[in-house]
Amino acid sequence: MNILLLGSGGREHALAWKLAQSRLLTETGDRLYAAPGNPGIAEHAELVALDATHHAAVVRFCQERRIALVVVGPEAPLVDGLADSLRAEGIPVFGPSQAAAQLEGSKGFTKDLCQRAGIPTAGYVRAASLDEARAALEGFSAPYVLKADGLAAGKGVVIAETRDEANEALAEMFGGQFGSAGAEVVIEEFMTGEEASFFALTDGASVLAFGSAQDHKRVGEGDTGPNTGGMGAYSPARVLTPLLEGEVLERIILPTVRAMADAGTPYSGVLFAGLMLTSEGPKLIEYNARFGDPECQVLMMRLEDDLGELLLACAENRLGTVPPVSLRDEVALTVVMAADGYPGTPAKGGAIDLGEAEAGGAKVFHAGTATANGQLIANGGRVLNVTATGNSVREAQQRAYAAVDAIEAPTLFCRRDIGWREVAREG
Ligand code: AMP
Ligand code: GLY
Repeated sequence: MNILLLGSGGREHALAWKLAQSRLLTETGDRLYAAPGNPGIAEHAELVALDATHHAAVVRFCQERRIALVVVGPEAPLVDGLADSLRAEGIPVFGPSQAAAQLEGSKGFTKDLCQRAGIPTAGYVRAASLDEARAALEGFSAPYVLKADGLAAGKGVVIAETRDEANEALAEMFGGQFGSAGAEVVIEEFMTGEEASFFALTDGASVLAFGSAQDHKRVGEGDTGPNTGGMGAYSPARVLTPLLEGEVLERIILPTVRAMADAGTPYSGVLFAGLMLTSEGPKLIEYNARFGDPECQVLMMRLEDDLGELLLACAENRLGTVPPVSLRDEVALTVVMAADGYPGTPAKGGAIDLGEAEAGGAKVFHAGTATANGQLIANGGRVLNVTATGNSVREAQQRAYAAVDAIEAPTLFCRRDIGWREVAREG
């Protein structure tokens, strides 16, 4: 059976690296295809030019190449219904239907579901117009949490310190700052606590825990400056103790999976829960319908199981027959090397020489790279994910930065403090 992986970032390079080791491919001589991929993914897969927004073309490719599993990396094709188009033709796909992907695609949808199912999350109001939103602000106190309802590439959340700032941000959202994603807005109660991410695989009925991670969203050291897609991550998130993890499963993940199934729109794929660990216990901040980027990179470094078999079992509704996911006990940590200017306008085209970065066991996942005349170059905001493992966060961190220092890339920068919270806790 051949496998098709969709996407082109560091998350997809980590998935490709792990899928290429799957018995489904190594014991059969079958192939891994990736679209559009990147130069790192090309080391493990045959790259094909397929446009994921063109569902008929993806279906045709799958039929012609006997694709028995499609793995969808990013959220946009899922929210766009690509998984439905594939399933309608009997092609197994790892990733939720359009209806189920609303868990990421509509913040209001998820808040309503949480309210119905009694899932702990911040109190909220949905507003469909500027007037409604401004009136709703009355019921909240500063800081105000304002969210565009739809997909806004991770930029649709504003935390406003004053009422004036909140009114201004709402005007921008309803004025089209985030396009149609901002046609509706969710206003939320502000939660305090430490953030952590938890991942679970589900086929709509059975659920398997897939580990935890923490990331660093701000561009600057000490978690300062503008938000990014994530400047680094590590797994496991030790703040999410086994006791808290059990609570997250029981009170957040399982009721969500049940509610989606009861509504006739079972959720199949990976459920990525962004959590706030509050003094009242873990609360849901948001769901994503895909693996995190760069959280996926650290999870894949720790995964002992055959990823292909796991994702296929999920796609074929056989997760109930699969033993618990096995992750190595070690810590994995990844440092994002981004192009100068990120998260604004990143400098493109800078030369990259990976040198001996992987000599000590580190793994360099490509995110925004390209090749020009045989030379690896920067071609995006987040460019490389330099990933290492160790017996502690400190050890994984030292190994990851040793690998970073072996890379020559004058137009790239990184934070030097990824994992600082955990390193401090390790003492
Ligand atoms: P989201 O895109 O929903 O994950 O939000 C992005 C970031 O905004 C989160 O990672 C949190 O740091 C912050 N955030 C979102 N919702 C809340 C909330 N209700 N209270 C406090 N912080 C929040
Ligand atoms: N790193 C956060 C995300 O993938 O949404």
